[in-house]
Amino acid sequence: MAEHRKPGTRIAHAGEEPIESLTEPLVAPIYQTTVYSYPDVSAVDDVYEHREPGYIYARYGMPNHRLLESALADLEDMETGVATATGMSAISSVVFGLLSAGDRIVASNQVYGGTRNLLNLDVQRFGIEVSYVDALDLDQVRAALNEPAGMLYVEGITNPTINVLDLDALGEIAREAGVPFVVDSTFATPIHSTPSAHGADITIHSTTKFIAGHNDVSGGVVLGSEELIDPIRQLAIRFGGIGGPFDAWLVLRGMKTLALRMRQSSQNAQSLAGALEGHRAVEQVRYPGLEGHPQHAVARRMLRSGYGSMLSIDLAGGRPAVETVVRRLETIRFAETLGGLGTTVVHPATTSHRSVDPETKAELGITDGLLRFSIGIEEPEDLIDEVMTALEAVRP
Ligand SMILES: Cc1ncc(COP(=O)(O)O)c(C=O)c1O
Repeated sequence: MAEHRKPGTRIAHAGEEPIESLTEPLVAPIYQTTVYSYPDVSAVDDVYEHREPGYIYARYGMPNHRLLESALADLEDMETGVATATGMSAISSVVFGLLSAGDRIVASNQVYGGTRNLLNLDVQRFGIEVSYVDALDLDQVRAALNEPAGMLYVEGITNPTINVLDLDALGEIAREAGVPFVVDSTFATPIHSTPSAHGADITIHSTTKFIAGHNDVSGGVVLGSEELIDPIRQLAIRFGGIGGPFDAWLVLRGMKTLALRMRQSSQNAQSLAGALEGHRAVEQVRYPGLEGHPQHAVARRMLRSGYGSMLSIDLAGGRPAVETVVRRLETIRFAETLGGLGTTVVHPATTSHRSVDPETKAELGITDGLLRFSIGIEEPEDLIDEVMTALEAVRP
């Protein structure tokens, strides 16, 4: 800044000179700016018309978003993607970006409670019909898609019941019906599953969970073809659904250890599931890696490198047993999330599915005794010991 300018002006523009360096940063910097400046007016046309690369404004996405999107698109074998502020922002951008009033979405009835709320409270309010199906029953899905529809929406591993859907079969049904097949793959992660290889046109993640992996940032991503992602990205921009650059940076940083974390946590989940089978206080262990799991054969086809880190149990003693176990746990925190480094547990009936009516809860298998664990990277012996000790306190 020229010396002839007064200190107030020089201060206002301090640190704005471009950084020159023959060397490069090893880690992508955080582009903590809300806006980029143009050199001249023709540059505006060049950037808007994609003739030249360029960033415009934070809500349209910053370099940190682009780096995260291309890393995840690569992992999920998709053409492109859009990184959003949260998983819910990703889901709402897909629904509102692709559907209009008068359209119909065919959705699995086993989805995250927040997704269910969005479909019931908002999507329908804007004139989009929602038809729920049991996506384990392929005939039901086929019948629902016999009527005109705009989308088939499922979670590959269902929340909180840990069923594994046959994406190959569902993808085929969606393809025959000519509708986009949308898969929320948050529970499976790109380590265990690649929905695009099984017919998914769009893959969604709440990156808040395993992908970021540290319970310290929210994010979401939608991945698919340029054609499908473009309207979704435009909607996310208009709705203001894109997060800040630091958030995208944190997600990408966390993601670098995803493979290591999933290896450890899915092995832990498999060991814990085995230890819990047949326990007197446990009516049912829901883990796809167990041979007795109803979709174990499907899981062998859909999942690789283990069966994931989500495990649910039904306590025979219902809510009183849940209260006892939760109070006895020490390092395993009772917290409404999943996908962190440490094991956490939730009680879906009072948290994620709190607003679901009792009949629907019963139909979905969300009992008062259901506890859903997100298994972390602890030493397996300690993990098993802690859960077993807590279960010992449950009265026979
Ligand atoms: C399967 C699934 N999808 C989406 C979401 C929503 O993600 P977020 O909390 O990042 O909005 C959640 C949250 O728990 C989830 O479990």
